[in-house]
Amino acid sequence: MHSSISIIDLKPYNDECKNGLVEDISKACKHLGMFQVINHGVPYDICQTLMVTLQEFFDLPYEERALFFTQDHSKLVKIFNYYFKGDDQRKVSMWSETFSHPWHPIEDFTHHLPNNPPQYREVFSAYAKEIGTLMNKVLRLMSKGLGLEEDTLVKRLEERPNFYSQANYYPPCPEPELTMGLNEHNDITALTILQQFDGVSGLQVKYDGKWIQVDPIPGALVIILADQMQVLSNGIYKSPIHRAVTNKLLPRLSLAMFYAPNDETLIGPIENLINEEYPPIYRSYKYKEYMEEFYRQVGKRRKVKEAFQI
Ligand code: OGA
Ligand code: NI
Repeated sequence: MHSSISIIDLKPYNDECKNGLVEDISKACKHLGMFQVINHGVPYDICQTLMVTLQEFFDLPYEERALFFTQDHSKLVKIFNYYFKGDDQRKVSMWSETFSHPWHPIEDFTHHLPNNPPQYREVFSAYAKEIGTLMNKVLRLMSKGLGLEEDTLVKRLEERPNFYSQANYYPPCPEPELTMGLNEHNDITALTILQQFDGVSGLQVKYDGKWIQVDPIPGALVIILADQMQVLSNGIYKSPIHRAVTNKLLPRLSLAMFYAPNDETLIGPIENLINEEYPPIYRSYKYKEYMEEFYRQVGKRRKVKEAFQI
């Protein structure tokens, strides 16, 4: 099997017959669990304007950004640093700064978002709406790719999923081999749509023990399957291990838009995918149980869904 990341053209989405597209998506979800999409419907200028706006946000003076610094993960709008704990239990910060807040329904949160840069609220809202439409398309294609009704995954993730964004800023790092922008991890949600700043690489996905670089392609977005998708599909779809390395000379920016279940949503292998030959490999759980396990493993190389394996 090839080990580079697929680039999938979503143009045939509106065609009556999109079997080829469903098959490509299904293959990519079963193989790497990560792929890039083009002709995805999110206008290029909206993507570009948001990346420039985020750069302006991270370039604000420290005192202004400091308003959002917190260690309290229950805060809606926050800046924090990821870290891991070494063998001696000392915290080691990642070479990055992370800015996170909810993105849907955006009208409910707009007044909590930064008003500097002044265009932030407007530009972010426009992007969030487009990403909502794209998430829906991708989830429909992914359902069909499992041989299920088109709306299965959306229904399983229920009416009020938890949507939040995470902008990652990686300053240039004089000695990239000594650190990491974001340590290797699985996304904990169901689905992630990631935009990378043009021209600066950093994202890598693990396959067969090797790291594959996911170079930014202007106008493309990266689709990353997350843990809940692996569990819902009973392991048919993969939640890939990935990380971000730093760059010696250039700053790098990425924006992840996450689609997570809400705390009460029951997650477990979808019934139609289970039979005698394919028994469930995970037990069902409420998403909040998964999150409790996630926080229990803070600072470690987490293995969260593994705790629910049968
Ligand atoms: C993430 C992530 C990778 C990147 O935010 O979960 O994996 O390229 N980001 O910044
Ligand atoms: Ni990630």
